[in-house]
Amino acid sequence: MSVASAEVDAWIADRLIGGDPALDKALARNAAEGLPAIDVSAAQGKLLHVLARSIGAWRILEVGTLGGYSTIWLARALPDHGVLVMLEIDPHHAEVARANLDAAGIGDKVEIRVGPAVETLSRMETESEGPFDLVFIDADKPNNVAYLKAALALARPGALIIVDNVVREGRVTDASSTDAAILGTRALFDVVAAEPRLTATAIQTVGAKGWDGFMIAVVNDE
Ligand code: SAH
Ligand code: DHB
Ligand code: MG
Repeated sequence: MSVASAEVDAWIADRLIGGDPALDKALARNAAEGLPAIDVSAAQGKLLHVLARSIGAWRILEVGTLGGYSTIWLARALPDHGVLVMLEIDPHHAEVARANLDAAGIGDKVEIRVGPAVETLSRMETESEGPFDLVFIDADKPNNVAYLKAALALARPGALIIVDNVVREGRVTDASSTDAAILGTRALFDVVAAEPRLTATAIQTVGAKGWDGFMIAVVNDE
């Protein structure tokens, strides 16, 4: 028997995730509005949700929003008083995300900040907007090191920092790559490896979104 990993993802989603009108509508609106289908998969989205719930997160920061698909999974993990701040450079993406979040019934928990995330994050640091319990980094990969450093500055001890797309079909291991996204992610691994305040690993994934992976780090206690 031969079965493709995307079919297994569909099989898993069918059993453990099921039909989810808010998420289905969000993906449909994203497509209708011309957004690229580069959201996390359903299984990955639910993993983000499980992780946020398991640490009792009530303040979440998301860098790179697209139409808010991963945001819906994360925001649903929040308690009533919870807050999710999301950063997005593209005003059209932010508008579509706002519509999706409101339609999903969690719009009141989510604050969208439109602009280049490096700038937004540096303002957030200046204004001591932390601490966050979980940071999900999923924006332009050349800025991964800047996002990681800002996340570390804004996160509490025990917080999780998760970075999407760190494997890219194995290309991350190519030391001669000139692709800015790969260079950014390779630099991220170097910085995290040398960072005593983080305990980190990376997990490869296959499935609906192909062969990729995510880095997951916990901020050590002082
Ligand atoms: N997390 C989303 C997918 C995000 S795709 C999900 O899984 O559903 C990456 C997003 O990062 C895009 O919407 C893109 O516009 C945004 N982005 C790219 N460069 C950025 C930057 N410099 N600052 C903030 N957002 C950026
Ligand atoms: C791309 C970005 C992502 O965040 C992702 O999950 C998949 C692809 C991209 O820029 O191609
Ligand atoms: Mg991604």
